[in-house]
Amino acid sequence: PVKVKKICCIGAGYVGGPTCAVIALKCPHIQVTIVDLNQSRVDAWNSPDYKLPIYEPGLEEVVRQARGKNLFFSTDVDKGILEADLIFVSVNTPTKKTGVGAGFAADLNYVELATRRIAAVATSSKIVVEKSTVPCRTAESMRTILEANSKPNARFDILSNPEFLAEGTAIDDLFRPDRVLIGSLQTQEGIDACTSLAEVYANWVPRERVLTVGLWSSELSKLAANAMLAQRISSINALSAICEATGANIDEVAHAVGYDSRVGPKFLKASVGFGGSCFQKDILNLVYLSESLHLPEVAAYWRQVVEMNEYQKRRFAKKRIAVLGFAFKADTGDTRESASITLIRDFLSEKAHVNVYDPKVEGEQIWQDLAEAIPGTPLETIKKSVTIHNGALSACTGAEAIVIATEWKEFRDIDWQAVYDSMNKPAFVFDGRMLLDAKKLREIGFNVTVIGRGDRL
Ligand code: NAI
Repeated sequence: PVKVKKICCIGAGYVGGPTCAVIALKCPHIQVTIVDLNQSRVDAWNSPDYKLPIYEPGLEEVVRQARGKNLFFSTDVDKGILEADLIFVSVNTPTKKTGVGAGFAADLNYVELATRRIAAVATSSKIVVEKSTVPCRTAESMRTILEANSKPNARFDILSNPEFLAEGTAIDDLFRPDRVLIGSLQTQEGIDACTSLAEVYANWVPRERVLTVGLWSSELSKLAANAMLAQRISSINALSAICEATGANIDEVAHAVGYDSRVGPKFLKASVGFGGSCFQKDILNLVYLSESLHLPEVAAYWRQVVEMNEYQKRRFAKKRIAVLGFAFKADTGDTRESASITLIRDFLSEKAHVNVYDPKVEGEQIWQDLAEAIPGTPLETIKKSVTIHNGALSACTGAEAIVIATEWKEFRDIDWQAVYDSMNKPAFVFDGRMLLDAKKLREIGFNVTVIGRGDRL
C-alpha cells in the first residue's frame, strides 16, 4: 500500500474544510491542500484574522494550529491534484432541479466535473476518495470517467469514505468519530488503497472504529444512516400529533420509549421537523434509487419519512400571532429599536405567521425594519409569513395569540368580544404594556398574561 504524504481535498465547504483541517492537525507528516473554485470562500479560509467561511465550535483553533504548516487553502485545483497521492472529492451534491429525476435524484454535476478535472490533470497514480454523499454505485461512474481519460502512467483507485459529522459538532465528531467507514473494491489494488487511507485515520482513530467494507455497502450506508436518523424524527413527530389530540405529553412518551435499550434515548426530540442540507436530500436520493431499481414499495416507505416532515412543518406554520403596535411607544410613528421588530423576528424563526397592525407606522417602514432585522432572508420570503393589517380586529382574526407591543390607547377600546369571537381557541393575550383590563378579558374567555404579573388564570 502507498504511504500517503500529500492529500488534496476538492471542495472547501462544510465537509471538506473541517474534515481535512482535522486530518492536517492529526497528521503533521502529511501535507493537506484544500482547493475550491470559489475565490471568496478560499480567501475567507486564508483570512489573516481567521474570519472563516463557516462557523463550527473548535474549528478556528484547529485552523490556527495547522494553517501555513501543513494545511493550505487554494483555488489552484490543478496543482492540488498534480501533487497529491490521495484526493478527497467533497463537492456539493444537491437535489437535481431539472432533467431526469428532478426533485429526487442527486445532482452529480459537481462530482463529475471534479472527476474529469482529476483525469485531465493527473500524471501519476492517485487514490480518489468520494467524501460527498452520492447515490449507490457512483464510484463506478467515476471510474469510467477516470479510466476513459487517464494518461498512460496514471492508475486510479476509487474509495468511498462518507462523512458522518453533524454541523454544529463537526470538530468533536471528527476528533472522536463513532466510526470511520471506508469502502473499496475487493481486489488487491482496492484493498491496498483502503489500507492507505485507513493508515491516515489510524493517527487518531482507534483501529476498531475504522470499518472497511465493499464500495457499494459504503455508499449505501451513508444514505441508510441519514434515512434512519430522519425516520426517528418523523416517528416522534407523528406521535406528537397524537399527543396533542389526546392530552399525552410527547416528552414523557419519548423518555419512556427511549429508556428501552433497544430504542435508545437519542434523536427522539419532537420538533417542528428536520431541516438542513442533508436529510431530505439524502432520503429523496434513496427514494429515487429504490424507484430506479423497480422497488416501488421501498420507495414509498422512505418517501413517507419526508412527507411526515412536511406535515409537521405545516402544522406549525399554521400558528398565527397578531402583534398590535409596531412603534417603539404610543403616539409616535418612530420604530427605531422597537421591541416589535425583535418579537416578530423571533416568531418567524419559530415558523409562525404574524399579523401586524399599528395605527401610525407605514407598511413600507415595517418591511424595511424587518428586512434589516433578518439579514440573509429576502423580503419576499418575509412577506410570505407577515401580513400588515389596517385594523386591530382584522389583524386578530384567525390568530391564536395577541401580543400588545405598543400602548396605543385605541387598543384598550377595541371590541374585545368581537376579537375573541374571531380568534382560534384557546385565545391568548400577552399584554406587554399593562394596557388592558385583564379582568374583563378573562370574563370574555381570553387566557391573559400581563407582563410582570403572576396571575395568569
Ligand atoms: P458545500 O456546498 O458547503 O461545499 C462544496 C464546495 O465544493 C463549494 O465550496 C464549491 O465551491 C466546491 N466545488 C464544487 N465543485 C467544485 C469543483 N469542480 N472544483 C472545486 N471545487 C468545487 O457542501 P458541503 O455541505 O460541504 O457538502 C459536501 C458533500 O458532503 C455533499 O455531498 C453533502 O451531502 C455531504 N455531507 C454534508 C454534510 C453536512 O453536514 N453539510 C455531512 C455529511 C456529508
